[in-house]
Amino acid sequence: MYGEIIPKKEPERQYYFMEKCREKIAELSKELGRPLTASPITFGCQMNARDSEKLAGILEKIGYQLVEGEDADFVIYNTCTVRENANLRVYGRLGVLGGIKKKHPHMLIALCGCMMQEKEVVEKLQKSYRFVDLIFGTHNIYKFAELIYQRLTSGKMVIDVWKDTTRIVEDLPVERKYPFKSGVNIMFGCNNFCSYCIVPYVRGRERSREPKDIIREIERLVADGVVEVMLLGQNVNSYGKNLEQPVTFAQLLQEIEKIEGLERIRFMTSHPKDLSDELIEVMAHSKKICKHMHLPLQSGSSRLLKIMNRHYDKEQYLTLVKKLKDAIPDISLTTDIIVGFPGETEEDFEETLDVVRKVRYDSAFTFIYSKRTGTPAAKMDNQVPEEVVKPRFDRLLKEVQEISREESARLTGQTLPVLVEEINDHDASLVTGRLSNNLLVHFPGTADLIGKIVDVYLAECKGFYYMGEMKK
Ligand code: SAH
Ligand code: SF4
Ligand code: F3S
Repeated sequence: MYGEIIPKKEPERQYYFMEKCREKIAELSKELGRPLTASPITFGCQMNARDSEKLAGILEKIGYQLVEGEDADFVIYNTCTVRENANLRVYGRLGVLGGIKKKHPHMLIALCGCMMQEKEVVEKLQKSYRFVDLIFGTHNIYKFAELIYQRLTSGKMVIDVWKDTTRIVEDLPVERKYPFKSGVNIMFGCNNFCSYCIVPYVRGRERSREPKDIIREIERLVADGVVEVMLLGQNVNSYGKNLEQPVTFAQLLQEIEKIEGLERIRFMTSHPKDLSDELIEVMAHSKKICKHMHLPLQSGSSRLLKIMNRHYDKEQYLTLVKKLKDAIPDISLTTDIIVGFPGETEEDFEETLDVVRKVRYDSAFTFIYSKRTGTPAAKMDNQVPEEVVKPRFDRLLKEVQEISREESARLTGQTLPVLVEEINDHDASLVTGRLSNNLLVHFPGTADLIGKIVDVYLAECKGFYYMGEMKK
């Protein structure tokens, strides 16, 4: 291109394309006589949300003003496909977006994320959603600037979806949603292939980041005002196994703990099969790791857990919970549960209820099993009919909520540290923050407290949150 050399190395190559896009966007903005706006919209989990912050970082760098919602010059949906309803939501909103684009022909629409890793989805978009400008997947979001440039210069729909990757590109721009807390990817992908789950197919094989890259990122975040990090991975307990110099998750946590200025460390998700005694030990002695563990159960039936390919049974799970509670008495436990996995009988379901009653979770995400094409469970011929699943789901929800309400109240009367996050939505004289166990607390306060950790007296529990008073 006119003798210009495009760098081959990353991230330099992307910074080159960010500059090229910047020029193009500036031209467009001049033509329209106003700044251009962009809006990344997240449909999925916390990893998906973190990816959206990376998209936002690049969009901002190339000259877009970030806005929320669909009224923007560049809208990108970062999709999720873990359950069918996540998928349907995307098509629904995309239809509406197509209508908006008819009135604003210069608008750009992009799709990325887990759903784009499915061949049938991309085929359907190509056929019936021709107004989409750019489609890419989970493995090449670092190429976002290069792909936008390709779209701007070709004027055609650009599709770039990779099957898998071994590559991790560091040091790209990121635009955080909160100034004081941030997600940090410690690994990508999943190797577990739980038989109901599509994530390993759309996120590829497990890859851990080098500890030094993670530490450097957190140090920079702290220098930029972050006091709390959430370490992200589909199974953080298997972190570091495939690094050239293997490191355990517990060892990584100990290194992160040393970072001065960092106050709180959270992580998710923990797979019960890989949760080590070493990790429990490190958590019990840590000053910074929040006393909260999200430990997905999925089912309480050992028979189903085997078919789900979870590699633990009911007894092992309960033993693990006992170990955690013995070592960390004030620990808060949360979980994910699936109702209606193929072949689930009333007895299997009762086993799940039994675990719920024994563990007494602080909260639980409950899901109705959703058939995902390509997973082993989708081919099982004993799918449970909706009229059987729905009442079970309602029974579980009721049980979970009752326990959660009781458990949430157990801190009443204590004074505990709260990270203040925002002015209360409903009452501007209050601020809202989070306890170490992730519960919300509302108390009288002002905007200058946002991002600070303060001691709050927990006066009254209102179901799933507290009303409190700040200790001076
Ligand atoms: N890696 C995490 C979970 C990621 S997906 C872990 O293993 O714990 C988040 C949750 O979605 C899962 O824990 C599971 O409860 C739920 N889920 C995954 N696939 C599902 C499906 N096909 N139907 C219903 N729920 C599902
Ligand atoms: Fe899915 Fe299992 Fe991997 Fe979690 S561990 S992402 S449930 S395959
Ligand atoms: Fe959804 Fe992908 Fe997360 S499928 S749950 S956004 S890893």
